[in-house]
Amino acid sequence: MAKILVTGGLGFIGSHTTVELQQNGYEVVVVDNLSNSDEKVVSRITSITGKEPLFEKVDLRHREEVRALLARHRDMDGLIHFAAYKAVGESVEKPLEYYENNIWALVCLLQEMRNQGLNNFIFSSSCTVYGQAKELPITEHSPVVPANSPYGNTKQVGEEVLQQAVSAHGLNVISLRYFNPVGAHPTAKIGELPLGVPLNLVPFVTQTAAGIRKQLSVFGDDYDTPDGTCIRDYIHVVDLAKAHVVAVKRLLDKKNSQPYEVFNLGTGKGSSVLEVIRSFERVSGEKLNCKIVERRPGDVTAAYADTTKANDVLGWKAEKSLDDAMADAWRWEKAVRGL
Ligand code: UD1
Repeated sequence: MAKILVTGGLGFIGSHTTVELQQNGYEVVVVDNLSNSDEKVVSRITSITGKEPLFEKVDLRHREEVRALLARHRDMDGLIHFAAYKAVGESVEKPLEYYENNIWALVCLLQEMRNQGLNNFIFSSSCTVYGQAKELPITEHSPVVPANSPYGNTKQVGEEVLQQAVSAHGLNVISLRYFNPVGAHPTAKIGELPLGVPLNLVPFVTQTAAGIRKQLSVFGDDYDTPDGTCIRDYIHVVDLAKAHVVAVKRLLDKKNSQPYEVFNLGTGKGSSVLEVIRSFERVSGEKLNCKIVERRPGDVTAAYADTTKANDVLGWKAEKSLDDAMADAWRWEKAVRGL
């Protein structure tokens, strides 16, 4: 049984990926510092898969902890690195914390992996590296543009660090550029758990329907899109998790064509904010209290993936629809709130 370390394995995408890895016969070690997650997620994962993943509480910013972790698991076959901060606004207020957690920890991890002779690495990147792309849908050849936040920059710099480290140190790396991950596990046992007021659209939608938020603000309806609201590529988190299983297998089977590869992970379909709201209302039967407000600074008009490379090279395709994602997100919100 191949053994995979999943950093940030109790977070939103990490927990779903742990489930998919276990269900595909991998042994998973979950690494998390619990800074934005709950240890109870370990038992929730276990209740879905029937297998308890080993949990390692480790803070990747502390080199000694990383060294000891990798020494304990020098028999691992690969590592998927989700652990990172991800709030755009917060990153503007705390840029140094973002560089420490997202870049310094990455460097520690890579150095200690190199020292142990470990070389299969999957990186969580983001479509944010493309900014407002000139051409849609966005292919992997679309230029990476200067980031408009420290968070976005940590993803770009992280990719550069990896790209330069592969040739020097014999690493094999796949960077996965996620579009907008949404939804939850269909069992409603794991999902997104935003702290405080959600910043992303879908958790705000489900919390509004659950009565926790009074009103959903739609950030601008004067964009150059068919209904005037921004367009994004919302991908179900279970589809996204499955792509990681395929990417891990590619590295383990030595099927990667270059030591550093990049793939866009999206559905290929753009949906506007109003389409997301309508999808949610349709599948939940709830009516959302919405108000059109000012644009949110920093938002791009439209971003959706060209998924040809992931489809053809990885042999992976998103299977779930926006309605599936909304239904699962709602089931999860109701489970969390005891509704
Ligand atoms: C955001 C980040 C992006 C990050 C991603 C991680 C910004 C500007 N971008 O992407 O860098 O990689 O999260 O998940 O923060 N919207 C509303 N009302 C709301 C919330 C959102 O209308 O209450 C709209 C936004 O204007 C946007 C769309 O919904 O058009 C999606 O927003 P969001 O879920 O925050 O994702 P992104 O902005 O695409």
